Amino acid sequence: AGAGEVSAPNRNGGRNSTRRKVGIIGAGSVGATIAYAAMIRGVARHISLFDIAKSKVDAEVLDLNHGLLFAPQAMVDGSDDVEVLRDCDVVVMTAGAKQKPGETRMDLAAANANLCKKILPDVVRVAPDAMLLLVTNPVDVITDLAIKITGFEWNRVIGSGTVLDSSRFRYLVAKHCGVAVQNVHAYIAGEHGDTEIPLWSSATIGSIPLNQWAVQGHGRLAAKDKDEIVRNVKEAAYQVIQGKGATNYAVGLAVTNILESILYDESRVLAVSGRLQGFRGMEDVCLSVPRIVSCRGIEPPLPIPMTVDEETGLQASAERIRSVVHELGF
Ligand code: LAC
Repeated sequence: AGAGEVSAPNRNGGRNSTRRKVGIIGAGSVGATIAYAAMIRGVARHISLFDIAKSKVDAEVLDLNHGLLFAPQAMVDGSDDVEVLRDCDVVVMTAGAKQKPGETRMDLAAANANLCKKILPDVVRVAPDAMLLLVTNPVDVITDLAIKITGFEWNRVIGSGTVLDSSRFRYLVAKHCGVAVQNVHAYIAGEHGDTEIPLWSSATIGSIPLNQWAVQGHGRLAAKDKDEIVRNVKEAAYQVIQGKGATNYAVGLAVTNILESILYDESRVLAVSGRLQGFRGMEDVCLSVPRIVSCRGIEPPLPIPMTVDEETGLQASAERIRSVVHELGF
């Protein structure tokens, strides 16, 4: 495989993960949950956790290995030495300060940018051909910094972006309309944060455009319902953090979903964050729009239709992200 491409033995997808190594930077609640989700879903043959807190990473690895009997074959190891990430196919970055109650993701930008400046050069040294999957917030800013710090090609530096927000969006629409979440196709675009944009105009339930959805006994979506849903999507993390201190399950599953599309070369359409090069006139910024994700990394954004309001919102989101990146001196 070329640099940045995960060697996918059977290129037409399929669950053949015999030679996959996934590294996870950060053994906190998000990193440990990603390791757990990846293990029980059999995403990788080898999962390596790296964290400077030796006792923490050793304990997480021990606890995960104690459950190996009940999961698909995998090897789980970890260390406070970054060497443990050597030759990873994908490196997931979760380390960093996390939101405190009421704090925005952008409030973490300076601290987590400094952490990336410290850690990412080591990742380049031990895993120069890896795909990079950023989760650390503010993830769009961090994704942009990661491209600039590592010098990796844009298509192999991916942010978890609004995959998680889109999952929340689809869950809430499905719940309101009384249908399975798998049959709701709807994306949140832009910043994984307060300026994100719900793409209502392209949303569908079972191939029926949402703006034509009027099925007896299955919740119509009045304007007030849509506003309520968007508010709940935007406030989801704040609400969970208020109650339990951090989010981890949904983001762990969202990241595992992205890992599967990469490692099994499944070309899923996911609202991951990545560099724009002229999409609707936007460039030199990382944000989420639906893209195809495969063993070759991310492709340019799909030509998803948008209303003028949606596009205006996306431009504003791009401007917010770009301004924070520039404030950090990147
Ligand atoms: C959330 C974190 C991952 O939205 O930003 O739960």
